[in-house]
Amino acid sequence: MEKIVSLAKRRGFVYPSSEIYGGFAAVYDLGPYGVELANALKQAWWKYMVQMREDIVGLDSAIFMHPKIWEASGHVGGFSDPLSECRSCHTRVRVDHLLEEIGIAADEKMSEAEINELFQSNKKKIKCPKCKAQDFTKAKKFNLLVKSNLGSFTEDWTADPVYLRGETCQGIYVNYKNVLDSTRVKIPFGMAQTGKAFRNEITARQFIFRTREFEQMEMQYFTHPDKEMEEYEKLKEYRWKFYLDLGMKAENLRWHKHENLVFYAKEAYDIEYNFPFGFKELEGIHARGNYDLSQHAKFSGTALDYLDPVTGEKYIPHIIESSVGVGRMFLAFLTEAYTEESLDGGETRIVLKLPKSLAPVKAAVFPLLKNKPELVAKAKEVFESLVPHWMCEFDDNGNIGKRYRRQDEIGTPFCITIDFDTLENDTVTIRDRDTLTQERVAIGELTTFIQKKLGA
Ligand code: GAP
Repeated sequence: MEKIVSLAKRRGFVYPSSEIYGGFAAVYDLGPYGVELANALKQAWWKYMVQMREDIVGLDSAIFMHPKIWEASGHVGGFSDPLSECRSCHTRVRVDHLLEEIGIAADEKMSEAEINELFQSNKKKIKCPKCKAQDFTKAKKFNLLVKSNLGSFTEDWTADPVYLRGETCQGIYVNYKNVLDSTRVKIPFGMAQTGKAFRNEITARQFIFRTREFEQMEMQYFTHPDKEMEEYEKLKEYRWKFYLDLGMKAENLRWHKHENLVFYAKEAYDIEYNFPFGFKELEGIHARGNYDLSQHAKFSGTALDYLDPVTGEKYIPHIIESSVGVGRMFLAFLTEAYTEESLDGGETRIVLKLPKSLAPVKAAVFPLLKNKPELVAKAKEVFESLVPHWMCEFDDNGNIGKRYRRQDEIGTPFCITIDFDTLENDTVTIRDRDTLTQERVAIGELTTFIQKKLGA
């Protein structure tokens, strides 16, 4: 894990937030390559979930919403984690996580008193993850919603807050009727969106795995009640295929069925990924029944049932969802791609073997020598011909070996070198990141060559 964190910082993928001010816990910024990778992940997801699906449409709802939405959704009352503090070093811990580590599953629906009873009866086995002391305060349920004073002009806005959204899907539920009324969708259909979500997470560990500000990619699928579980199985299969199609190894993925369900779910599975710290939740796939639309109908006073245009049947659709964090997917792909290879001379090559479609930079262009203006001019010409198609880099700094190393570490699939032969015959060498083979390609065919290799 340290190697991945270090590479991510050193090579401009991920920076800790507000670093020059000493940092800001559980918030991260994406650097130049990080933003490219995150965009590629979002594009891949969008393509799979919207573009390739006739039955799914996109949405981009606002982060701020009417505060009543969060009451209706159950988040104001029930979206909390049990928090305790180590009396010795004051580290805040999630009691359910500590219990989980000793093999005890705490039910989401447990009251504060029930959680404390479980915590107390196991306290001899539980240690502070930081100082190893065994002296904790009583567990308190801590609400994860982040409050804001947007639109409030009173001194004490905390009494009447608005919330930064804790999940993006609520924006989908409250727009379900708009989409139904303004487009040609019919049940079954889905709505997808990507966007920021905010949670006051108690423990901030494991790099970008769990952050307080993060981006979600969520798709909510509206079905007839009798079809919910059939569609649920199809969605599970489709989401699993997404990862395999993007080149993830099946052995690094596994299903986890939730025995203790969150307040809205009827059935829930996670796709877990084999992160450097073990198999952990990558994506959640939930059958939510008619909980969400019924709650919003009740709290808003707006009827949200669906009238089947063919059968005339009226019902509240059931919802199945797929939900994954961009940061979590980012970390999973970095983990999958991080490779150390021993070279002949005893050196180690670090290379990010990202799927080519996800690589932040697709091609790097090098003039063999920096001090030969003809080589530099030709290399610039080649570079200019590629940038309308892909993110490319021009690099004339240091020896070629060093330039390769830099590109390997950010996962660039192709490095193109302009040498003296280029000036003679308009061909370049193109080196493949994974096989290290070098081919001579005519400049006029370079775009098609790369296009073919990228499959795009
Ligand atoms: N709408 C359902 C929902 O939000 P969730 O299991 O709370 O369900 C879904 O979250 C996904 O969002 C998770 O599988 C994870 O990928 C991502 N996620 C949740 N909390 C996160 C956090 N604090 N940091 C990063 N990603 C997070």
